[in-house]
Amino acid sequence: MRKKIVAGNWKMNLSKSEALALYQSVDAQNTANEIDLIVFPSTIYLDGLKKLNGKLKIGVQNFHPAESGAFTGENSITQVKDLGAEYVLIGHSERRMYFNEDSDFLKEKVDAALQHDLKIIFCCGEPLSIREMNAQGYYVEQQLIESLFHLSNWAIENIVIAYEPIWAIGTGKTASSEQAEAMHAAIRGFIEKQYGKNTAEKISILYGGSCNASNASELFACENVDGGLIGGAALKANDFLQIANSF
Ligand code: PGA
Repeated sequence: MRKKIVAGNWKMNLSKSEALALYQSVDAQNTANEIDLIVFPSTIYLDGLKKLNGKLKIGVQNFHPAESGAFTGENSITQVKDLGAEYVLIGHSERRMYFNEDSDFLKEKVDAALQHDLKIIFCCGEPLSIREMNAQGYYVEQQLIESLFHLSNWAIENIVIAYEPIWAIGTGKTASSEQAEAMHAAIRGFIEKQYGKNTAEKISILYGGSCNASNASELFACENVDGGLIGGAALKANDFLQIANSF
C-alpha cells in the first residue's frame, strides 16, 4: 500500500502568530490518522512550530545543499535538519522559475537531502505552452531523468513525487481528474521503466495545483493519485482538514 499524503505549502505567507495558530488548529482537529499530514512553513517559523510538539510533520520549502559557506541569506541542509525539519520540498516551479534552480542544482539538493536523511517531495510539472503542444509527458519525464533517475532503487523509494502543472498553480484552474490521472499513470510508468514495477508501485505521487476542499475527493479517487500538495487552501485549517479527509 502506498502512503497517502496531504502536504500544505504555506509559501511566503502568514505572520509568526498566524503560523503557530494554523499549525495548532490543524493539529488539534486532525482525525485523518492514516494520512501523513505535512506542513511547509517559512523556515524562520520552524523552530517555533517544532516547540509545539504536535503530530503534524514539518518540512522546509527551501535549503542550500552545501553544509555551510559563503551563501548570504541561505539556510544550509545541516541547519534545516538541526532545526528539526523532516521533509524538504525540491523542484517547486516557483523555485525553478524565480530563483533559476535548474535540474543540476535540484539533483544536488536531492543528494544532499538524502545524505541527511530528510524525506523529499520532488515537484515536477509542465507550463501551459507545453500542455498546449501535448508534450507534458516528455517534459515531465525529462525533469525526472535529470534530477532523480541517477538514484539507486533503494534511494528513489524514499522520494514522494508531486505532479503540479504550472498552469494550475494558484490560478483556480485545476487539472481535471482525467488529466491528473493520465499524468500520474505516465509518471508511474516512467519510474517503472527505470526501476521496475515493484519500486514504481511503492512511490506516492501527489497532485498539486488549485486543489481545494471541493475538488480533492474527485482527484484523490484516481487510482494513481496518492494525495495532494496544497498551496492556497492549506492556509485555512478547515479547508486543509477537509482535503485531508477527502480520501
Ligand atoms: P495552489 O499551490 O494550491 O495554491 O495552486 C500549489 C503549490 O504551489 O504547491
